[in-house]
Amino acid sequence: MGRLVTTLLVLCLIYVTTPTKAFRAHDLRRGLEQATRGRLLADATPAGGSVVPIHWSPPYYVANFTIGTPPQPASAIIDIAGKLVWTQCSLCRLCFKQDLPLFVPNASSTFRQEPCGTAVCNSIPTRNCSDNVCFYQGPLTQLGGNTYGFAGTDTFAIGPVTASLAFGCVVASDIDTMDGPSGFIGLGRTPLSLVTQMNLTKFSYCLSPRNTGKNSRLFLGSSAKLSGGGNTSTAPLIKTSPNDDSSNYYLLNLEAIKAGNTTIATAQSGGTLVMHTVSPFSLLVDSAYQAFKKEVTKAVGGAAPPATPPQPFDLCFKKAAGFSRASAPDLVFTFQGAGGAVTLTAPPTKYLIDVGEEKDTVCMAILSMALLNKTGLEGVSVLGSLQQEDVHFLYDLKKETLSFEPADCSSLS
Ligand SMILES: *[C@@H]1O[C@H](CO)[C@@H](O)[C@H](O)[C@H]1NC(C)=O
Ligand SMILES: *[C@@H]1O[C@H](CO)[C@@H](O)[C@H](O)[C@H]1NC(C)=O
Ligand SMILES: *[C@@H]1O[C@H](CO)[C@@H](O)[C@H](O)[C@H]1NC(C)=O
Ligand SMILES: *[C@@H]1O[C@H](CO)[C@@H](O)[C@H](O)[C@H]1NC(C)=O
Ligand SMILES: *[C@@H]1O[C@H](CO)[C@@H](O)[C@H](O)[C@H]1NC(C)=O
Ligand SMILES: *[C@@H]1O[C@H](CO)[C@@H](O)[C@H](O)[C@H]1NC(C)=O
Ligand SMILES: *[C@@H]1O[C@H](CO)[C@@H](O)[C@H](O)[C@H]1NC(C)=O
Repeated sequence: MGRLVTTLLVLCLIYVTTPTKAFRAHDLRRGLEQATRGRLLADATPAGGSVVPIHWSPPYYVANFTIGTPPQPASAIIDIAGKLVWTQCSLCRLCFKQDLPLFVPNASSTFRQEPCGTAVCNSIPTRNCSDNVCFYQGPLTQLGGNTYGFAGTDTFAIGPVTASLAFGCVVASDIDTMDGPSGFIGLGRTPLSLVTQMNLTKFSYCLSPRNTGKNSRLFLGSSAKLSGGGNTSTAPLIKTSPNDDSSNYYLLNLEAIKAGNTTIATAQSGGTLVMHTVSPFSLLVDSAYQAFKKEVTKAVGGAAPPATPPQPFDLCFKKAAGFSRASAPDLVFTFQGAGGAVTLTAPPTKYLIDVGEEKDTVCMAILSMALLNKTGLEGVSVLGSLQQEDVHFLYDLKKETLSFEPADCSSLS
């Protein structure tokens, strides 16, 4: 598992750069409607926890919020595996384009640059202290996707939450574009993520289908709860040590991956599932991917002729007269829960997506891990955001479990 982190950061990078371009080039966008732990200012936090609205901003789920006094608007990609909270700052030398103005630390009376030697600074593994400024670099990948900045603290207003948070003031990166947002909100299991800084024992999110224009939601603290009806499933999170490279990820032990009723991976061949909200696509261990591709081709290909897949897709069909999504198999993940086997199902509506201006083509939003061309990821699959739509996921950090149930995300409050 040691190499997981660097390699999966490459994943983020792929989706921060290449697919964004691919999305634009093929106009998928048009088809998609539009450390300090416990620093929370307690008196400003609603007792019942808080609900943060998030929205689909292709190809990411994004939250609007403000930083500083007086508040400056910012927007950030929700990253379930993200290690920290960061935004581009006005001292930027090498910035990507963002919709909103850069955050100006000088214009905020509550901004504090983090000096060296503090708990916050010391919790950044890639810190680099010079002139008593706590610089950091990351996430690190061999292919890029680096951000470089300094650590600071300021007041954040995210939904109804007001909290003093340590964050990265990014002044340089090799990211070309993020298509609008100014940074990331990391929810990973690391000291500087939003979750850890707010000392949360649980949180949940529910992503509305991308093409509905409806709001999605992130629930922090006591507001995070499932309806508890008969359809709730619970699986244990894999315990990781803080020293483990992959400790920021929420990982599940898979019992099997299935295409409908057909088993395409077992615990031995595809044992780990990584929760991901930056990648819109899921990636399966290659053997399972090849088997799934075969099943989908068998089910759909008879009625719909193949189409040349635009990057980064691998399998596309022309929507001929006889084409039917419903004939394609469900993508099913099974886990060993406390009370027996539990399943998480992505029906074809969540993975056969319209591509192209005429919407005459569908492509499979599921890819092979082999695409990453990396060793050290044997048996690892990734669950992307499109395949998480309209399922409410609850992360219980005390019990170390992930619970989920089907939901109409836009109707939750
Ligand atoms: C975090 O919350 C727990 C209770 O949920 C409390 O015992 C602990 O002291 C808190 N830690 C900090 C650093 O605030
Ligand atoms: C988020 O902020 C942007 C820019 O200020 C705005 O256009 C958009 O409507 C906001 N979205 C939501 C859901 O509040
Ligand atoms: C912030 O203030 C410092 C000191 O007053 C100044 O040197 C620096 O140029 C200012 N930075 C910006 C971005 O205004
Ligand atoms: C730390 O920063 C200094 C000055 O910016 C730079 O010369 C040095 O290479 C950096 N060290 C590391 C380990 O990144
Ligand atoms: C459970 O799911 C089934 C089928 O999706 C649905 O008919 C039923 O109403 C759900 N039950 C609850 C309690 O939500
Ligand atoms: C899958 O198995 C169930 C129960 O055994 C059966 O009812 C269903 O028809 C099967 N589906 C397919 C596509 O074979
Ligand atoms: C895969 O990676 C290896 C070594 O890193 C490299 O030699 C090879 O060209 C790569 N293959 C592809 C298809 O990118």
